[in-house]
Amino acid sequence: MSSVVLLTGGTGTLGRLVAPRLRSAGAELRVLSRHAHDPAEGAEGVEYVTGDLGTGEGTAEAVAGADIIVHCAGTAKGDDVKARHLVDAATAAGRPHLVFISVVGADRTPVVSRLDRAMFGYVAAKRAAERVVEESGLPWTTLRATQFHELTLTTARAMARMPVLPAPAGFRIQPIAAAEVAERLAELALAGPAGLVAEMGGPRTYEMRDLLRGYLRATGRRRPILPTRLPGRAAAAFRAGANLAPEHAVGRLTWEDFLAERTAEQTAKP
Ligand SMILES: NC(=O)c1ccc[n+]([C@@H]2O[C@H](COP(=O)([O-])OP(=O)(O)OC[C@H]3O[C@@H](n4cnc5c(N)ncnc54)[C@H](OP(=O)(O)O)[C@@H]3O)[C@@H](O)[C@H]2O)c1
Repeated sequence: MSSVVLLTGGTGTLGRLVAPRLRSAGAELRVLSRHAHDPAEGAEGVEYVTGDLGTGEGTAEAVAGADIIVHCAGTAKGDDVKARHLVDAATAAGRPHLVFISVVGADRTPVVSRLDRAMFGYVAAKRAAERVVEESGLPWTTLRATQFHELTLTTARAMARMPVLPAPAGFRIQPIAAAEVAERLAELALAGPAGLVAEMGGPRTYEMRDLLRGYLRATGRRRPILPTRLPGRAAAAFRAGANLAPEHAVGRLTWEDFLAERTAEQTAKP
């Protein structure tokens, strides 16, 4: 009999890429979204359910009968609360294997002051969510990944709208293709509980300013980049490389190749 998999965040960058991989492995897929979706939207074997992990609304119905939960829903705030609602509902429903995607650096970024929280609150919430998963009593797997190329591109695009690009001084990024993380996440979901697994990082590490320069070059723009030193302990941890996984540079697609692919796609659009 095929497994029933609840995929949270199945409408997002990562989740959209996880979904077809689970489907092609034969899973019956249930995608949780805050928004109602037309049943016709889902491919065969994909059902949409409506719910909000922030409030817990619809969560019990979403987890009912699930053998595996792949938890990709995430936002800048409140991922700890989302994890709590999901775990409570999952525990009441049975013992599904809970697979969680977290971020590299969640365990080594001190978010202690109000200033740290304002800039790095999402990292602290991610670590708190990891703890909720670890202590849930459910069979679990957590994978930490570095920043996706897709988010790096969104950030670069937003910054390039400004006349001067403020780049956090001393920050480095090791971006990875979300598709490669999706591949691993689907594999982990189907393989059974493994606890905290090896991190995944992109193939190369870049100074933030070089990465932005690469984007400006690829899109034919010229803008000055202004290195800006961010205060606080969390920013200091990032300058020391807390967000990097050089020992686990397993990603294959480089930022340059990703950018070239995206730029070619844009050019090909009518
Ligand atoms: N982006 C990165 O660089 C990166 C790196 C490492 C790890 N991660 C982690 O990977 C996960 C996915 O990231 P992403 O970039 O794919 O995110 P994304 O594109 O912004 O998508 C976020 C997803 O979360 C769902 N969601 C948000 N709030 C929700 C709520 N209250 N209840 C239910 N669903 C909710 C959204 O669904 P609806 O809008 O349909 O409700 C959407 O599918 C996140 O947990 C993130 O922390 C991201």
